[in-house]
Amino acid sequence: MKVLIIGGGGREHAIAVSMKKSSRVEKLYCVPGNAGIAQIAECEPSIGVMDFDRIVEYAKDKQVDLVFVAPDDPLVGGLVDRMEAEGFRTFGPRADAAVLEGSKVFSKDLMKKYHIPTAAYETFDDPGEALEYLKTAKMPIVLKADGLALGKGVLICNTLQEAQAGVKEIMLDKHFGSAGNRMVIEEFITGPEVSVLSFVDGKTIKTMTSAQDHKRAKDGDQGLNTGGMGTFSPSPFYTKEIDQFCREHIYQATVDAMASEGREFRGVIFFGLMLTPEGPRVLEFNARFGDPETQVVLCRMKNDIMDVIDACIDGTLDQVELQFEDNAAVCVVLASDGYPESYEKGFEITGLGRFEGKEDYYCFHAGSRLDDKGRIVTNGGRVLGVTAKGANLREARARAYEATEWVSFANKYMRHDIGKAIDEV
Ligand code: AMP
Ligand code: GLY
Repeated sequence: MKVLIIGGGGREHAIAVSMKKSSRVEKLYCVPGNAGIAQIAECEPSIGVMDFDRIVEYAKDKQVDLVFVAPDDPLVGGLVDRMEAEGFRTFGPRADAAVLEGSKVFSKDLMKKYHIPTAAYETFDDPGEALEYLKTAKMPIVLKADGLALGKGVLICNTLQEAQAGVKEIMLDKHFGSAGNRMVIEEFITGPEVSVLSFVDGKTIKTMTSAQDHKRAKDGDQGLNTGGMGTFSPSPFYTKEIDQFCREHIYQATVDAMASEGREFRGVIFFGLMLTPEGPRVLEFNARFGDPETQVVLCRMKNDIMDVIDACIDGTLDQVELQFEDNAAVCVVLASDGYPESYEKGFEITGLGRFEGKEDYYCFHAGSRLDDKGRIVTNGGRVLGVTAKGANLREARARAYEATEWVSFANKYMRHDIGKAIDEV
């Protein structure tokens, strides 16, 4: 099979590494890809993920057998529909199902209608009404722009003044663009956060092993929200009892709800769960693999990923048994100092060769490119996802941090407490 992956971050690198292991994959292509992915796939850096016409042209030119759409924007924007219309076998939800991530108003209303546990909420399309509602609301409170906002459209407000400023930011100043035409205002809930990714074929859902992300930039969950500074898998908070509850009330219920709405979901559903004292609640759905969750989940999966992808597309997932190694993985993101605000890029990355031939170590590239001298240089806020497996979280964590010392680049920055939850339970 010739496979084309759409995307160019650490998640796509992890997906490419999994596919490369499959004996069924003859050649990998990736658009736009990055310098790490380019070591195992032919990349086309000049094509963007929203450049649908050029993606179609590229897929035709390379005569690919399968297209895997990884990021949220093209999924919500209908790339799967487009590729299917052009005759390509494609993995990922169509636009009418990707709305599960693309609209928070849709996903909250779906959960309410089908009794899927989530935080209490109201939706607004009028800023005046939102401001009026806030006057009697309990603080802290959570404001969410309806649409995609690079994971930044969620504001946690401690006071009425902050919340009023937040409504203005989202709905009037349009800080997140048209994503703020509507918004959700929801109850503030507390508890550990766990990410559960799953494969879905429209009817059947098979969940993968659990993971936890670290979203804040600095140690101790301080600093600004980022796209994710590191992950570990499995989550020690995700017990058998919690899994059982989620199976009964959340996972299949979500897939059935989408089917009942005439929006059959095929692809990956990412459940962002909060384990509150009252039980698990869905914080958000994503219609795709998480980044950097994928880096610690896929490397532990025993199945041939191509078999699972085929089953999702063909509706035969009920015949697949997902299997994960009985170990753990930790991913530490090496970022450019200053991320997520301002940072410099273009610095040479050295030491990457040290990962070669080391079984349980991976260096997934998130923001890298080849410069005109053929050197691999930094090309983003998040640069690398240094990942290691170990018999347990403690060992995986020690190994991942050991490997972070193998690579160097100017302004290298990382958190030092990824996976520390293991000391808390
Ligand atoms: P989301 O993009 O919906 O995952 O929200 C981003 C982050 O905001 C989550 O990972 C949580 O840490 C936090 N968050 C979202 N909704 C709530 C809520 N209802 N209560 C408390 N924290 C929340
Ligand atoms: N790590 C969170 C996400 O992929 O949205």
